[in-house]
Amino acid sequence: MKKKIFIILFLVIAILYGLGLWKLNSRDPLLQWDWSKIDTSQKKFPSDFVWGVASAAHQVEGGHQDINNFGWWEKQTKEDGQSTIKNNDKSGNACDHWNRYPEDIELMKSLNVDSYRFSVSWSKIMPKQGVYDTLALQHYVQVADSLLSKGITPMVTLHHFTHPLWFQDLGAFEKKENLKHFVNFSEVVYLALKDRVKQWCTINEPGVYMFDAYLSGMFPPGKDDPVLAAQVMENLMKAHVQVYQKIKSLPKGDQTEIGLVKNMMQMDAIGKYNIMDHFIKYFADNNYNEVVLNLLKTDEFDFYMPTMVERKTTITGASKSLDFIGLNYYSHYAFNFNGNIDESLEPIAYPGEVMTDMDYGMYPEGIYRAIKRISQIGVPIIITENGIADDKDDRRADFIDKYLYAVSKAIEDGYDVRGYYYWSLTDNFEWNLGYGERFGLYHVDFNTQKRTLKEGTKKYIEIINKAKSL
Ligand code: BGC
Repeated sequence: MKKKIFIILFLVIAILYGLGLWKLNSRDPLLQWDWSKIDTSQKKFPSDFVWGVASAAHQVEGGHQDINNFGWWEKQTKEDGQSTIKNNDKSGNACDHWNRYPEDIELMKSLNVDSYRFSVSWSKIMPKQGVYDTLALQHYVQVADSLLSKGITPMVTLHHFTHPLWFQDLGAFEKKENLKHFVNFSEVVYLALKDRVKQWCTINEPGVYMFDAYLSGMFPPGKDDPVLAAQVMENLMKAHVQVYQKIKSLPKGDQTEIGLVKNMMQMDAIGKYNIMDHFIKYFADNNYNEVVLNLLKTDEFDFYMPTMVERKTTITGASKSLDFIGLNYYSHYAFNFNGNIDESLEPIAYPGEVMTDMDYGMYPEGIYRAIKRISQIGVPIIITENGIADDKDDRRADFIDKYLYAVSKAIEDGYDVRGYYYWSLTDNFEWNLGYGERFGLYHVDFNTQKRTLKEGTKKYIEIINKAKSL
């Protein structure tokens, strides 16, 4: 009898364990292809597929040291006396793209790309609260005109991690009453550029900004406050919805395509059958990926970090606030439970992957998974960023080849991917990591500003030219 009870109990526990594993894993199961059996030259792209490159104002333009949140951050020191930026780098003149954009547009032209995604600098356009600098606005009109004259379509991002110091001093996205400033700024930029720009990205990677500025303390204002992080996340999403609705109500607004840019980080458990590893991964994925995806599908915002914060609310209109979704995809993180929840939430590299110069492993299947998952929102997908930090340039060609193979496979499998923007045209200022991380298709000598095409970039040119010749 005892033996029978023991067997039944064992079976019940095994079934519950199995069901738990299945539930935690079913949202986005691990995918691993056998690359030795794949011919990556077999890629097919639709004839109207958009090939592009991307950048962001603070990382390339120069001239932000005294005017925006990140310029301020670069001058701060951490509690241990260390600089907030690796090697004490400062964005300074960056790639001097503000002055050298005509040369950079020529570089784009020689890659044969169709589109350039760039961000406008809120701090240059609106240096003081309520004061617009018309020359700065005019600058972006000229950039758009120069692009169009070369047959390159501009795509504009309104917020890419940075904003004016006065907005930071007001508490930035920590406060709901501040959102109107971002909406007003977006309206002014839209009206100045509306005859030239059709595609708009409202906010770049709200989750990354929230995480780095309010949890990991790597971005300004360098806080570690889960309650504030949840509030900022909610406000960023509200800001996106408000900007979408505002632009749609303006002249020609109905002809625009507006999207949010979502960074998808693929997350997996180290132990395939270890329920605790899956549990940790599930919570990390919830706040990084699912919170945004679920909101955009259902209007429901649900931010939950066990024992730290729970914030649930409805953001009406969120599920109708996209003409496309921008997907930024870089890498793959793994989780391993070691008995301590806090420590186990620190992601690690997935074993066996070729590493890039950052703590990102190469995992092309991840972009396929990200496309599949984000497609559930039900709008067209544009890959607004994907690229590799590779100073030696010995992995770039393989990266581009395999990631674009995965994109082409997703298209073949029926996912509606409309374009791909490589990050980035040139090496640039990689935020808290400074100038060491080289993502560019062109190498930049930051002493002379000389740009040089990298060997690995030839793969991108080859793929674009082949796709266009079919
Ligand atoms: C950001 C870029 C950044 C890139 C590489 C993305 O999350 O949008 O600004 O340079 O990642 O780390």
